[in-house]
Amino acid sequence: MRELIETVSRELATDSDSAASVIAALLGRKRYEVYMKGEIGDCIRAKVLSQLRQMKKGKPIEYITRTVQFRDHVLRIDPGVFIPRTETEYLIEMIHNRLRNHPKRILEIGIGCGVISIALASVYPNACIIATDVSAQAIANARQNIMDQALERRINLVQCSMYDCIADEFDLIVSNPPYIPRPRLNRLPRSVRKFEPILALDGGVHGVEFTQRLILEGKECLSDDGVMVFEIDDDAVAALTRFLDDHGIDSFFFLKDLFGRSRYLFIGA
Ligand SMILES: C[S@@+](CC[C@H](N)C(=O)[O-])C[C@H]1O[C@@H](n2cnc3c(N)ncnc32)[C@H](O)[C@@H]1O
Repeated sequence: MRELIETVSRELATDSDSAASVIAALLGRKRYEVYMKGEIGDCIRAKVLSQLRQMKKGKPIEYITRTVQFRDHVLRIDPGVFIPRTETEYLIEMIHNRLRNHPKRILEIGIGCGVISIALASVYPNACIIATDVSAQAIANARQNIMDQALERRINLVQCSMYDCIADEFDLIVSNPPYIPRPRLNRLPRSVRKFEPILALDGGVHGVEFTQRLILEGKECLSDDGVMVFEIDDDAVAALTRFLDDHGIDSFFFLKDLFGRSRYLFIGA
């Protein structure tokens, strides 16, 4: 194992503790278990080295291990489905801290592998959630995670675009939509460009088009005290403020993420 740690550390140009963390993730073990292991079989060694080669080609470790950690949940992530980010974990924190009332009916647009809806189901145990995604792969991945968490009675999935299949009213509409401005897409890290779905990233020419539609069409599906919460690109604040002003929406604010970047838009809270 020591030799394997050294190899991973050298190949990934990282220290041995980080290398042990990578091996632990690849093998589905705890890090201390990696250190405790003396001899390892040829099969395990070959498996780790093959996965290491995939990582060196830029494949995200989440797509190799097929797992992602999100708050208290360890969830499945399928290749071709957007990998949840730390900023979105913090979005749940912001919603929990900022909403005065517990929403009973929640709509998520663009569920991906299911993290936001699953986390909100924990935070609001009395809420019923409807979640959409246009991607069949995302819906299948989310369905698996929802079943694994025994939440199928509380989270209903619909494959459709935006609000196309939605006729009800909601106390909370939430989305982490595609919001990368198109000119910036080719500057994303190679691992994102090559492996993550463009459908989850491409926010149109200015990165606000999707969010603008979410706001305008979402107003029709909002209850009287309803709130909309969207994750946004940190460069989008000025454009979205203008858009909200132009449409006579004055009850809104932006919040920053853990890295100090404007990342969340709350409307009606
Ligand atoms: C940035 S990902 C967010 C996924 C997940 N909610 C998360 O936070 O990890 C955006 C999601 O929106 C979905 N999407 C893109 N266009 C859509 C559309 N027109 N209607 C519904 N969902 C869409 C993508 O398939 C993707 O799963």
